[in-house]
Amino acid sequence: IGRNIIHYETVDSTQIEAKKFARNQAPEGTLVIAEEQTQGRGRMAREWHSSKKKGIWMSLIIRPKLPLEKAPQFTLLTAIAVAKAIEEVTQLRPEIKWPNDILLDGKKVTGILTEVQGEPDHINYLVIGIGINVNHTQDDFPEDVRDIATSLSIQANNSVSRVALIQSIMQYFEEYYQLYVEQGFVPLKQIWEKYAISIGKEIIARTVSGNIYGKAIGITDEGVLKLADNQGNIQLIYSADIDICT
Ligand code: BTN
Repeated sequence: IGRNIIHYETVDSTQIEAKKFARNQAPEGTLVIAEEQTQGRGRMAREWHSSKKKGIWMSLIIRPKLPLEKAPQFTLLTAIAVAKAIEEVTQLRPEIKWPNDILLDGKKVTGILTEVQGEPDHINYLVIGIGINVNHTQDDFPEDVRDIATSLSIQANNSVSRVALIQSIMQYFEEYYQLYVEQGFVPLKQIWEKYAISIGKEIIARTVSGNIYGKAIGITDEGVLKLADNQGNIQLIYSADIDICT
C-alpha cells in the first residue's frame, strides 16, 4: 500500500484523478498525492479547502475482494489508521466522530471521503480520499470554517512532517487491512471505539430524509451507527452528518 505514488504540484482533485486511474486498472495501493487542489471536495459535494503545501491531500486506490456493502467499513478502517498515525507522529490524542471526521480539541483536523465502484456482490475499486490540515495557522483557514477547523501544527505548537505522517498512515493502513482480511471488522471496531467521541452522547443525525435525535449507542459489526431514539427504538444510521449535543 502506498508504494506506487503519483504526485502532483497542483491538481483539480486527487479524488477525481484517482478514480480515473482506478478505471484504467491502476493496481491496488496506488496513492495519488497533491501539494494543492483547486477543486477539493468533501462529503455531500462540499468544498474542501486544500491550500498549497499546508496539508496532506491524497487518495488511495484499493481493491478488496468483498461485496459492495462492506465499503463503508473502509472509512472506519482509514479513520483509525489516520488517528493512530497522528498519535504516533505528534503525540496528540485525536478523536473520531462517526463516520469519518477526526477531531483535535473538538475541531476538525481530518476528513475522509470513500467512493466505491462495483456490483452488489463485489467491489471493483475503492477510492479513499484523505484530507489532513497539517501546517495551517488559524488565519490560513477560510472564514467559513475558521472556527471549526484546526491543524496539527496549531495543536502541537510545532510544524509537523507531512512525509512522516503519510508513511505512518500507510503502515497502519496496511496493518489494519491485513487484520481485516484475516479477522474481519470486529477487531477494528474495538480500536475504533477507543477513539470514538459520539458514542454514549445525545446526537442529531442529519440525514437526507431529515433529522433524527437520540443517543448514539455504538456501531454494528458492519460499521453502521446505532442510535436509540426518544421512543427507545434502535435506529440504524448508514449516512449522516452528526452533531453532538453538549
Ligand atoms: C469530508 O470530511 O467531507 C471529506 C474530505 C475529504 C477531502 C480529501 S482531500 C483529498 C481528496 N480529494 C478531494 O477532493 N477530497 C479528498
